[in-house]
Amino acid sequence: MRNLGDNELKINIIGLGYIGLPTALMLTKGNYEIVGTDLNQKLISELADKCMRFSENGMEELLKEACNRDIRFTVEYEQADVYIVAVPTPYIKTSKKVDASYVIGAVTKILKVCPGDCVIVIESTISPGTIDRYIRPLIDGHEGVKLAHAPERIIPGKILFELENNSRIIGADTNEIGTLIKTIYQSFCKGTIVTTDIRTAEMIKVVENTYRDINIAFANELTKICKEAELNVYEIIRTANMHPRVNILSPGPGVGGHCISVDPWFLVGDYPGLANIILAARKINDSMPEYVLERISEIMEKEGINNISRIGLYGLTYKEDVDDIRESPTLQMLSIMKKHLASGIKVYDPYIKEKILENQFLEFKEFTENVDFIIIMVGHKQIIEQLDIIRNKIILDTRNVIEIEGVYRL
Ligand SMILES: NC(=O)c1ccc[n+]([C@@H]2O[C@H](COP(=O)([O-])OP(=O)(O)OC[C@H]3O[C@@H](n4cnc5c(N)ncnc54)[C@H](O)[C@@H]3O)[C@@H](O)[C@H]2O)c1
Repeated sequence: MRNLGDNELKINIIGLGYIGLPTALMLTKGNYEIVGTDLNQKLISELADKCMRFSENGMEELLKEACNRDIRFTVEYEQADVYIVAVPTPYIKTSKKVDASYVIGAVTKILKVCPGDCVIVIESTISPGTIDRYIRPLIDGHEGVKLAHAPERIIPGKILFELENNSRIIGADTNEIGTLIKTIYQSFCKGTIVTTDIRTAEMIKVVENTYRDINIAFANELTKICKEAELNVYEIIRTANMHPRVNILSPGPGVGGHCISVDPWFLVGDYPGLANIILAARKINDSMPEYVLERISEIMEKEGINNISRIGLYGLTYKEDVDDIRESPTLQMLSIMKKHLASGIKVYDPYIKEKILENQFLEFKEFTENVDFIIIMVGHKQIIEQLDIIRNKIILDTRNVIEIEGVYRL
């Protein structure tokens, strides 16, 4: 591999989704040759036409700027000095362990085009020990191939801001590799970059998301307790958080997305019997879509509603102001309803522009005209700014974002 001081190290980013694409675009700010690789030919053609697949503040502009600098998109893996792997890492539903098959597939292909003299940086979130278990055996005999782990911490909706400003961790086997990778990330990241060993870096990332999952589960459990005790959970959390050492997160209809609802399972899968709070938290958060259904049924009875087709779910994404629907609580709820043969509920999300569900509306006005009871599943800015349109409806606000007299809450 060439030295860091050499002009134009070549970096091949593998996987151009929510994480890989912005990372590749940001890296064009440094003095590197950047190649973005994804197996999805359609995605590559769209990127070559400067078209974004997901909406994110500032990304379209950055894509155009990057295309004017040194970046290419391709389905091929290329020989490079550094590889950054940002492919999916789901969990195996039965064992709860990380499904490392995408990462293994990517590294295997890298080794075919570059059998020696490169650094392979795994950015994908992986359970502690994944690199030792699955990746090291692959590079056995590939003299000069080095490994590092640089997990990503950004949140969709603020991707570019957080890529630039978050602190980050880099795990590497030697100081030399840690420093090389740190310098590359410093080409766009102004936050503190801590270097450590690979297994510690793997654990830190999973611990961060697990911490948030447990905190949300605590808020959700409090919600159920306060409902039983006829107390206002929001007032209780807000006021408890005035304590200088208390910071309870917000309750909600469930936890979705590709991180918080997935990564804690890795620890449950690898340490059954030890990961007790973690497992309980996962179960509490997974129970929330069912809890929302119970709230809907209570409110229907109280309000004398018996026609499910006049009920509407607002929000399909897993969080506000993004278009990512992976593991979304609304989809989890619809799947529970399907099992109970309940159908006909209406759905709308301003960020989902194509019809993916039978009873989905693409226009907000049409959606509101067809429902009497709206359940706010996601607190998109769009609905907060258009409260007048829904003011006379029955509303269940699962995100506590609507301030209208008489709104039901969790
Ligand atoms: N999305 C987030 O908010 C977020 C935040 C932090 C960390 N992460 C982690 O980052 C990783 C990537 O997540 P994402 O949200 O970007 O996923 P994504 O599904 O948006 O993108 C993954 C991309 O990888 C491509 N791909 C799959 N296998 C490939 C292969 N062998 N070679 C080339 N391309 C391949 C897919 O076509 C897809 O475009 C995951 O481990 C995730 O846990 C995600």
